Amino acid sequence: MRNVYLVTLFVCVLVVSVLGFRGTTFTLPPMDVFPEWAFPGMKHQPKLRPQGDSAFFADGRADRLPPPHVVRSDLPLRDDEHLYMGKLPDGSFAPEIPSKIKVDVKFIERGRDRYQIYCLPCHGAAGDGNGMTKRYGMGATPTYHDTRLRTMPDGELFNTISVGKNTMLPYADKLIPEDRWAVIAYVRALQRAQQGTAADVNDAASKKSLGIQ
Ligand code: HEC
Repeated sequence: MRNVYLVTLFVCVLVVSVLGFRGTTFTLPPMDVFPEWAFPGMKHQPKLRPQGDSAFFADGRADRLPPPHVVRSDLPLRDDEHLYMGKLPDGSFAPEIPSKIKVDVKFIERGRDRYQIYCLPCHGAAGDGNGMTKRYGMGATPTYHDTRLRTMPDGELFNTISVGKNTMLPYADKLIPEDRWAVIAYVRALQRAQQGTAADVNDAASKKSLGIQ
C-alpha cells in the first residue's frame, strides 16, 4: 500500500516537472553544473559569434572571408563560370556543355538517373510536362519539346536547374554542377528522341519492320 502512495507521488512530480514548466521563462540563470571557478574556460569560452564584431581584426568584423583558393561546394567557383554557372566571360549563357566534360553514354546515363529522381515527378518520363504532380494540380510544368526550350542555350538550362524558375525550385543543393550538366545532356537526348526521322533508322531489320525503304 505504501508503494502505491510513493508511485502516485512520483507520477505527480514527473507530470508536473515535465508538463508544468513548459513555456515558462525563468529570470535566474540556469544552475551551473560546471562552475567557472572550478572549471575555468569550459563553459564560457572566448569565441566570436557569427556576424558579431571583434576588436582583434583591423576591420572590426568577426566573420572572415575564406582565404584565396579555398574550395567550397556551396559557392560557385568564379574562375570557371562556364562549368559552375553556365555562363561565358561576357555574362551571356553558354551555348554548350563545357568542353572539359566528356559527354559519353555513361555520362548521359548518369543524367537519366538524376533526371528520374529529381525532374521526372513534374516533367514526366518523356519530358513532356506530364509528370505525376500534374495529376495533383501542378499544371504549369512545361514540355521540353517546343522550339524555345529546344533552342535554349545549355547554359540557360543550367541556370534554371541551379536557381529555379518561378514555381520550380532550385536544385543546386541536390545536384553538383557536373550532375546538372549530365541532366542537361539527358534532357537533350529526350528532345532529340522526339525529333526522329526515317533517316535515323539505319539497320535493315528495323527499316523493314517500320516499312521504310
Ligand atoms: C516540383 C516540380 C518540378 C520539378 C521537380 C522540376 N521542375 Fe522544372 N519546371 C517546373 C515548373 C512548374 C516550370 C515552369 C516554371 C515557369 O516558367 O513558370 C519548370 C520549368 C523548367 C524549365 C523551363 C525553364 C524556362 O526557361 O522556361 C526547365 C528547362 C526545367 N524546368 C528543367 C528541370 C530539370 C532539369 C529538373 C530536374 C533537375 C526540373 N526541372 C525539376 C516544375 C518542376
